[in-house]
Amino acid sequence: MRLEVEITGKTYRSAAGGTHEVLSPLKFGLQSGEVGVLIGPSGCGKSTMLRIILGLDRDFDGRVTRPAEARIGMVFQEPRLLPWRTVEQNVRLAAPNVSDAKLAELFRILELEAHRSHFPGELSLGLARRVALARAFAVEPDLLVLDEPLASLDDALAGRLRDEIATLVGSRSVMTLLVTHSLEDAIRLGDRLFFLSPRPARIVQDVPISIPRAERSEAELARIKAELAALPLESK
Ligand SMILES: Nc1ncnc2c1ncn2[C@@H]1O[C@H](COP(=O)(O)OP(=O)(O)OP(=O)(O)O)[C@@H](O)[C@H]1O
Ligand SMILES: [Mg+2]
Repeated sequence: MRLEVEITGKTYRSAAGGTHEVLSPLKFGLQSGEVGVLIGPSGCGKSTMLRIILGLDRDFDGRVTRPAEARIGMVFQEPRLLPWRTVEQNVRLAAPNVSDAKLAELFRILELEAHRSHFPGELSLGLARRVALARAFAVEPDLLVLDEPLASLDDALAGRLRDEIATLVGSRSVMTLLVTHSLEDAIRLGDRLFFLSPRPARIVQDVPISIPRAERSEAELARIKAELAALPLESK
C-alpha cells in the first residue's frame, strides 16, 4: 500500500473575492509501516494538507492517490466528538465492529475507563483528545492521520501515548501521517520528517531516520537531534 501526494497548489478564496495561497507545490509518498511527520510553523498549511490527503477538500491543484479501500483513522486538531453521545458511543459509532476486549484495552491504554459513559461536554480537552485517539485506533486503520494528537496533554501522559502510538504503528502495517510541533515526538515516532516552510507551505527538508523506532536509544535520539539542529531549516 502506498500514499502518493502531489499537490501543485492550494488557494482559499474569500467571499470578498480575495485569494489566500496556502500550499506551494509539494510532493511525497509514504508506504505501509512508515510514519511521516509534518513539522512547520503555525498557519503554514498543515491541517489544510491533511484535509486534502483525506479527500475532505477537493478544491486544490494536483493529485493524491490513497490506497484503495484503505480504512482511515483520523484525529483532527479539535477532537470533534458528537456532543450528544457518550465517550463509548462516540468510539463505537466510528468502529461498529470493534470487540469489547479491544475497546476495553484501548480505554485502559488511554486511561479513559472512568469516562466511558461521560458526554464530551464533561471532558477536559486532553480527555477529549484521548477519546479521539481511541476512536482512530478502534477503526484498525490502514492510514492513520494525526493532527497534533498529543497537544494539551501533560508530558508524562504524552510520553506514554507516544509509546502507544509507536506500538500500534509497529504492530500493524499502518501508514501514518503525523503533524506535530514537538521535535521529540517527531524523532521518536517518525521514519521521515518533512520540515515545511511558512505559508504557502513547501517541503524545505525531507529527513529520513533510518534506525528502526524500537532501536532508537536515548544516545541515538540525542545524535539525531544534534544532526537536525545542524540543518539549515527555516521552520525550526
Ligand atoms: N476554510 C478556510 N478558508 C480560508 N482560509 C483558511 C481556511 N482554513 C485555513 N485557512 C487559512 O489557511 C492557512 C493555513 O491554515 P492551516 O489550518 O492549514 O494551518 P496549520 O499549518 O494547520 O496551522 P496550525 O499549526 O496553527 O494548526 C491559514 O492562513 C489559515 O488562516
Ligand atoms: Mg493545523
